[in-house]
Amino acid sequence: MSTMRASSLVLLVDDDPQSLKLLSDALAGQPFALAVALDGEMALRQIRREEPDLVLLDAVMPGMDGFEVCRRLQADPATRDIPIIFMTSLADTASRVRGLELGAVDYVTKPFVRAELAARVRAQIAVRAGARALAEKNAELERTAAELARARDTLEAEVVRRTDELMATNQRLTHMNRVAAMSELAASIAHELNQPLAAILSNAQAARRLLQKAPPDVAEALAALGDIVDDDRRAATIIQRMRAMLKKGPPRTDEQDLNALAREVARLVGNDALLRGVTLRMDLAPGLPRVRGDGIQLQQVLLNLVVNALDAVADRPPERRLVVVRTRGDGKARVMLSVEDSGKGIAPADMERVFEAFYTTKAEGLGVGLAISRSIVEAHGGRLSAENNPGEGVTFRCQLPASEEGGA
Ligand SMILES: Nc1ncnc2c1ncn2[C@@H]1O[C@H](COP(=O)(O)OP(=O)(O)O)[C@@H](O)[C@H]1O
Ligand SMILES: [Mg+2]
Repeated sequence: MSTMRASSLVLLVDDDPQSLKLLSDALAGQPFALAVALDGEMALRQIRREEPDLVLLDAVMPGMDGFEVCRRLQADPATRDIPIIFMTSLADTASRVRGLELGAVDYVTKPFVRAELAARVRAQIAVRAGARALAEKNAELERTAAELARARDTLEAEVVRRTDELMATNQRLTHMNRVAAMSELAASIAHELNQPLAAILSNAQAARRLLQKAPPDVAEALAALGDIVDDDRRAATIIQRMRAMLKKGPPRTDEQDLNALAREVARLVGNDALLRGVTLRMDLAPGLPRVRGDGIQLQQVLLNLVVNALDAVADRPPERRLVVVRTRGDGKARVMLSVEDSGKGIAPADMERVFEAFYTTKAEGLGVGLAISRSIVEAHGGRLSAENNPGEGVTFRCQLPASEEGGA
């Protein structure tokens, strides 16, 4: 029903043509268009066809009177908001009251004063235009709000997607770094596995010999079989350690004993250190408070630091190839884990660069170890820093918050 018009439309309803003529004369020259209807039925038809901005309605008409027209317009949601001004005779107070009660916005009395009539009509048209503009603004605001809400939802979804993507990339990179560190150790791990395997072979051969003797030496054979079982367990443990480090998976949070973690890493790299002629010294504080976090990730940090240290001392004379892994509590809320080496140290200008991703000075380096280590430590609420030693080499310090659940 709503129409787009340049000017407003006023519908005049009166059964007396003379009266209609007077009305249109009075309103001529005003900035709105006029339409007329001679009875109630015609008025309703006209209103349905083109919604007026105002109806000037004669109260008393033969057939359907003004009150009935008003009642019907009020009853229909589509026409309820069209303002109505009743026209009543001067003496007819009851009709004026009734009209207002039925929802008319104003009334004028016949015979009317031209200027007053024009002013009242203009006033109602202005009110109507204001209400329209407000409704349009409201609708526009609602549209804008809906658009904003949609944009926000899209943005939130995008942030979630990007975060997931970043986390996945981060996990992949972390895993890659672990694989890289482990592959550096692969030769020494293979060598380490060779020992129990060789022992198993020779014990199995011995057991066979002992059982083929007449009479068979069952007691000695049993002892050899016992050694086989022990060596098999050792090999299984080595494989388990390797598996744990190569495992891919989301981080898990548990109570961690840094000393146990350090021993585990020492076992992983111990053989490699031996092959490279490096002394790996453990200096672990007893009664160290536990730390909350992911055991594999924290182990990865230490593994990165120790592997770097082993690289750093590689070209030192054998008696000066020293790496010290240290743990300390500060008696308060922090636990410290450090790796000290006797290598060539780091030029002061490169001290922060070494933590940048893909910074490497090694031919086969990935350059992600320290970047990942720092992000792991920071994700655990800690700090990872490096400092050249007074003498030679460098010390990497990893500070972690002690867990509240007490000491180890
Ligand atoms: N203990 C260390 N002593 C001297 N330089 C080190 C030490 N640890 C790391 N660096 C330097 O930091 C660089 C980055 O180390 P890292 O992120 O572990 O990557 P990568 O070991 O693959 O090069 C190394 O290439 C090396 O130049
Ligand atoms: Mg490294």
